[in-house]
Amino acid sequence: MNKVKIAPSLLAADFGNLQRDVEMVERSTADWHHIDVMDGVFVPNISYGMPVLKAIAKHARKPLDVHLMIVDPDRYVQTFADLGSSVLTVHYEACTHLHRTLQAIRATGMKTGVALNPHTPVALMEEIIKDVDVLLIMSVNPGFGGQSFIENTFEKVRTARQLIERKGANTLIEIDGGVNADNAKALVAAGANVLVAGSFVFNSAHPEDTINDLKK
Ligand code: DX5
Ligand code: ZN
Repeated sequence: MNKVKIAPSLLAADFGNLQRDVEMVERSTADWHHIDVMDGVFVPNISYGMPVLKAIAKHARKPLDVHLMIVDPDRYVQTFADLGSSVLTVHYEACTHLHRTLQAIRATGMKTGVALNPHTPVALMEEIIKDVDVLLIMSVNPGFGGQSFIENTFEKVRTARQLIERKGANTLIEIDGGVNADNAKALVAAGANVLVAGSFVFNSAHPEDTINDLKK
C-alpha cells in the first residue's frame, strides 16, 4: 500500500521566520510544501502571493503544492509554473472552463489539481477526473487555517475513491482543513492519499515529530 503523503501548510508558519519553517519541513518526513494563495475575492481573506512563493522556493527542495483560492486562475498558470510549482490546484467553483484550465496547467509540465468546496459534490468530477492528478477535498470552508474539520468529508472521500476506481484514473485524493491526529487515520482508511495540515503541525511543540506521527 502507498504511504500517505503529508503536506504541511505554510499558512500556519511564522512569516517572520519563514526560512526556518521551510527548512523544518525540508528536514522532516513531510512530502510536499502546501502553499495557500488567497485573493480576498474567492475567499474572504488575503494570504500571500508570488514574491513570498519565490522566497519559499529558494529554500525548498520538496515539491511545491500550490492551492489557488482565487478567481480566474487561468491568468496566473504560467506565472506559478515559472515560480517552480509542482502541483497547481484551482477551485472547481472558480473555473467556468475547467477542462481548458487543466490543459493549460498540464501544458506547463505541472500536475493538475482541482479543489472542491465542502458543498460541492464529487459527482461533478465524473467527466473530468481522468485529467485531474490531485483531487483536493476541502474539509473546512476555504479562507482560514485553524477551523474545525467537517465530518461529512469521510463520505466524500469514499465517493471520490469509488469514482477514481470506476474511471480507472490515477488521481490522488488530498484532504485540506482541520486535519489532525484524531481524523488522519480514518481519512487514509477512507481512501485519502495526501493530508494537508497547518495549525496542527505549526502550533505543536515539536512540528517535526508531529509530521512524522501523521505519516505513521
Ligand atoms: C484553508 C487552507 C488550508 C489551511 C489548513 O483555506 O486551504 O490549507 O491552511 O489549515 P489547518 O490545517 O489549520 O486547517
Ligand atoms: Zn490549502
